[in-house]
Amino acid sequence: MQTRLATSVAAALGALLLGACSGNNDVITQKATSAVPDYWPVIQSPIAKSDDVEKKVSDILASMTLKQKVAQIVQPEIRDVTVEDMREYGFGSYLNGGGSFPNNNKHATPEEWIALAEAMYQASVDASLDGSTIPTMWGTDAVHGHNNVIGATLFPHNIGLGAMRDPALIERIATATAREVRATGIDWIFAPTVAAARDDRWGRTYESYSEDPEVVGAYARAIVTGLQGDISDGNIDDQHVISTVKHFLGDGGTEQGDDQGNNIADEETLFRIHAQGYVEGLGAGSQSVMASFNSWHGEKLHGNKYLLTDVLKDKMGFDGFVVGDWNGHGQIEGCSNDNCPQALLAGLDVYMATTPTWKPLFHNLVAQVESGEIPMSRLDDAVRRVLRVKVRVGLFDLPSPANRSLSGDKSIIGHPDHRAVAREAVRKSLVMLKNNNNLLPLEPNSKVLVAGDGAHNIGKQSGGWTITWQGTGNENSDFPGASSIYQGIERAVSAAGGSATLSEDGSYTDAPDVAIVVFGEDPYAEGNGDIANVEYQRGNKSDLALLKRFKDAGIPVVGVFITGRPLWINPEINATDAFVVAWLPGSEGQGVADVLFTQANGEVAFPMQGKLSFTWPATPYQNPINRGDGKTPQFEYGYGLTYSDNTNLPALNETVEADSSEAADHVIFQQSVQEPWQLVAHSGGVSGAMNSSVLTIGDVTIRTADRNVQEDTLLMQFGDTPAKVHFFAPFPVDLLDFTTPNSALAFDLKVPSGTGIQAGIECGDNCAGMVPLSNFTADSSDWQSVEIPTKCIIGAGANLQEVYAPLSFVTQGKVEFAVSNIRLTQHGQPTTHCP
Ligand code: BGC
Ligand code: BGC
Repeated sequence: MQTRLATSVAAALGALLLGACSGNNDVITQKATSAVPDYWPVIQSPIAKSDDVEKKVSDILASMTLKQKVAQIVQPEIRDVTVEDMREYGFGSYLNGGGSFPNNNKHATPEEWIALAEAMYQASVDASLDGSTIPTMWGTDAVHGHNNVIGATLFPHNIGLGAMRDPALIERIATATAREVRATGIDWIFAPTVAAARDDRWGRTYESYSEDPEVVGAYARAIVTGLQGDISDGNIDDQHVISTVKHFLGDGGTEQGDDQGNNIADEETLFRIHAQGYVEGLGAGSQSVMASFNSWHGEKLHGNKYLLTDVLKDKMGFDGFVVGDWNGHGQIEGCSNDNCPQALLAGLDVYMATTPTWKPLFHNLVAQVESGEIPMSRLDDAVRRVLRVKVRVGLFDLPSPANRSLSGDKSIIGHPDHRAVAREAVRKSLVMLKNNNNLLPLEPNSKVLVAGDGAHNIGKQSGGWTITWQGTGNENSDFPGASSIYQGIERAVSAAGGSATLSEDGSYTDAPDVAIVVFGEDPYAEGNGDIANVEYQRGNKSDLALLKRFKDAGIPVVGVFITGRPLWINPEINATDAFVVAWLPGSEGQGVADVLFTQANGEVAFPMQGKLSFTWPATPYQNPINRGDGKTPQFEYGYGLTYSDNTNLPALNETVEADSSEAADHVIFQQSVQEPWQLVAHSGGVSGAMNSSVLTIGDVTIRTADRNVQEDTLLMQFGDTPAKVHFFAPFPVDLLDFTTPNSALAFDLKVPSGTGIQAGIECGDNCAGMVPLSNFTADSSDWQSVEIPTKCIIGAGANLQEVYAPLSFVTQGKVEFAVSNIRLTQHGQPTTHCP
């Protein structure tokens, strides 16, 4: 489903290229030896440094022990830290990640969120164990509203907001978000993302407002202003939150759009394209910056002293703090999650230490300051930055989280005023690509059929970072107070005497006047959303078939496309009369109907007005494609029809020239199990599928773990009972592409204890090709790359035309192993023998 070079390989390649290309070498040498170029501006933050604040911070700092200081710069995550840990260590801050809730309860109430905030705060100011009374603060990813909380208002994702070109509305969205976050006792949010996404194969494209740095800059200013409120007196009040501009720097410009990949832009381009969100966001007073997972010329940003310290702090004058991303420090060369002085030395101020490794990390940092490996002055500077922000946000003066002005006012979560703002944003973000014979707007007193799997699916219309990290696994009932796109249409139509029928598969008995088909991408987040090319539903054009059924029956069709990025959908556009991109509108689906239908009297209530903030590709292989790059897109940056345009779009080109490169790897598991596969375990007559981070079946236990990036590893433990664990799909998949001579089933394996694993491919009842893994199971505690030539698996009985399980492990007794990076590839090592 997706191909990309493993990050490390990409980085290594980047480094290789560097060696070969003198142009890039110049950039590096210049960077190391000369001063920061003058195009990096000095920022004038509206929160000016004040002597009073500095004095207060100095007094606190002077009274702190080494351990208390280190605690200020270690940020654990609520799944791995208890209130008692907080009492003992007194962390400066903590977070909940995407899909992480108080008591691990997805349906935690606002009271439970506040209870956790209160307990953590009270433990932090309790000096009984750590001697410290410095209040802690809680950070969360409220990236399109307070998206981890049931019932919160969910705004359109950033890509949709970009299409509005309306910074004033952005500010109102931010104000509403800040209020909902404060209502749960939280002080700080990890937003806005100010990436200018330049390659839409990137799984985070929807978190970007635009490919255009100017839009990103204007929005960054507006959203920071809305989140932090009026800060002209030097303070953030308790109706507002600390904001974070992220991910510094160049995340939207990696090669092939790889998440956590390598950006090889020269420094001036890095500034001009990728840094504008920081210039404006910090210019509006944002108090924190999140370091990015990506590398710049092969060097991870978390360890990049030049950008973090020389540019951001020394030249631009940023005086807030730099927080890391999810164990991002562990990705620096020579670092691990639990040991990384390099990050602090480079200029990171707060380690986001999101696994149980926070504990060894803490003790290592203490030891590294004691030994002088980390100068006390650097630690003091980091702590000073954290404390400075705490003073500015009033943490030392405010009452505890449960007693602040908005805390516990449940009416704020999903407040009608906030929903009204979100609905307005939905209306303004729609972009119409086609409206032949002015089919739109529709009259509401019509007979409407609403089809497609996005029609009545609030999870799908909300995308990633929605209650769960990936945005998957949600039901409409998880969104109290929200509306699906279908529900909005139904309300608009029935109020005007028309009728709307929901029929996901498009079947009907009574021909409708018009069909609205709502379809598009399923939710994803971060690297899981990376794709090899931008063709929509390659190899399985079920939505095209649905659209065509109406078209063939002579029923006018409106396509409503749910997507996190421009995708190549020429065939789908051709199969409609009108085509509207709704992006990822969030909880207020009814905003779509507001624009698609006129009022009962035939007047347009809300104009169609969105304009593309990304260039739309003309072929699946055209990325990166950006305004001004000389390529001919399908729809230009800024395109978007209005109801007064009388434009008929001619049929678009549907022929796809095959990509010249070889077949992409078939990825089976990489941070998550890839579609259509599911991880299923069988043991002692019981079976079960994995749908959270742990699965126990009989005496088999599987857990996700972090090796290089989040959840990129599966740990499997087998007991005495013979067992099988496989990546399974109920329908067969044709994998004949992987019968070429060097094709292999490949994965990384570590077997700390036990033996007797067989691995192979299953092709239905009594059809499988299994081979022993004896060569790889020598009680090794090191990672090994395993490649099983598919010819060996075929020799053992597998048929690759009808694969039900592309990887199956069978065990006979006790064994424990870890596996990651699982794929079928055409590029295995040439070999003649089988394992
Ligand atoms: C993401 C950040 C996010 C953090 C905390 C990371 O993986 O890159 O954007 O703020 O997780 O959930
Ligand atoms: C966690 C999420 C987190 C994400 C950050 C995942 O492993 O489960 O909570 O937001 O990593 O990238």
